[in-house]
Amino acid sequence: MHGSEGQEREAGRREEIPLISSPGGNVAPSTPRRGGGVFSPAPGQRPPFLGHGAGLRRCHYPDVLSGSVECDWFEVITENFLGAGGRARRILFSIRERFPVVLHGVSLSIGGCDPIRGDYLEALRGLASELEPPWISDHLCFTSARGHNSHDLLPLPYTEESLAHVERRVLQVQDFLGRAIALENASSYVTFLHSTLSEWEFLAELAARTGCGILLDLNNLDVSCHNHGWERESYLQGIPPGSVWQFHLAGPSEMGPLLIDTHDHPVPDRVWELYRRAVRRFGAVSSLVEWDDKIPEWSVLSAERQKAARLMDEELRRGPGDPS
Ligand SMILES: [Fe+2]
Repeated sequence: MHGSEGQEREAGRREEIPLISSPGGNVAPSTPRRGGGVFSPAPGQRPPFLGHGAGLRRCHYPDVLSGSVECDWFEVITENFLGAGGRARRILFSIRERFPVVLHGVSLSIGGCDPIRGDYLEALRGLASELEPPWISDHLCFTSARGHNSHDLLPLPYTEESLAHVERRVLQVQDFLGRAIALENASSYVTFLHSTLSEWEFLAELAARTGCGILLDLNNLDVSCHNHGWERESYLQGIPPGSVWQFHLAGPSEMGPLLIDTHDHPVPDRVWELYRRAVRRFGAVSSLVEWDDKIPEWSVLSAERQKAARLMDEELRRGPGDPS
């Protein structure tokens, strides 16, 4: 259903160009480039802790450009900056001079059956070589089929067959980009009857096989667990420590019996509680607040970011083994 995550939409479809990797896509990840001394995670390597950031949205550009905001880092929607030049890209690079900026994509379609778009990857690699993001992320989902872009993050069947399929494609992408990527658990509203693995088993095995990172969205975890009756603690315990590169925090909407991933509310208490539990399990992981609709003024978003920093600090002070 939802899940466009602030994408201000691509300007039309791009031409599809087959990837240059082998047809099977079973290629060994290459040595990551380390342009300008900037860290590019190799498969299986966890990037540095950046602190507590916010999703950068257009309405906050003036605040951020004024130099008056406090924020450890920003995340931007990749697709909004893939075109060469333009005002948006100039602003992005201006912000990058002062803050780390992570690229978060919404249209890689890593689980899809269409060939991964070579022009998309070319543009992403070009942008990354200039922007030098600490890491690049997208979603565990598919977004297009037979060339039709759904503009949505659609769930996958969790089977051995689809795991092998996604594994091949992650290795293709990582080889093309010359760096590991992170994949986020998307919110979902339906599941496949023939799934044989849980979402967390699928993610954990994918990370183990490819060395990709996991962007653990705790709001999405809460939404999907609520909608499907999954155990939140089983999910957290099923994700291996060391594989999580980043947390997302956001607020969903209630719609009848469902939670909908709208990103238009403050982070609810139950997600803050999940965040505490996640910090106890995974430690100091770069954390980011997303707010994509009914976006409040910067001070409100920043207060959420500061709350995340405070809660992480409290949990880290407790130390491991203190579950109280
Ligand atoms: Fe997210």
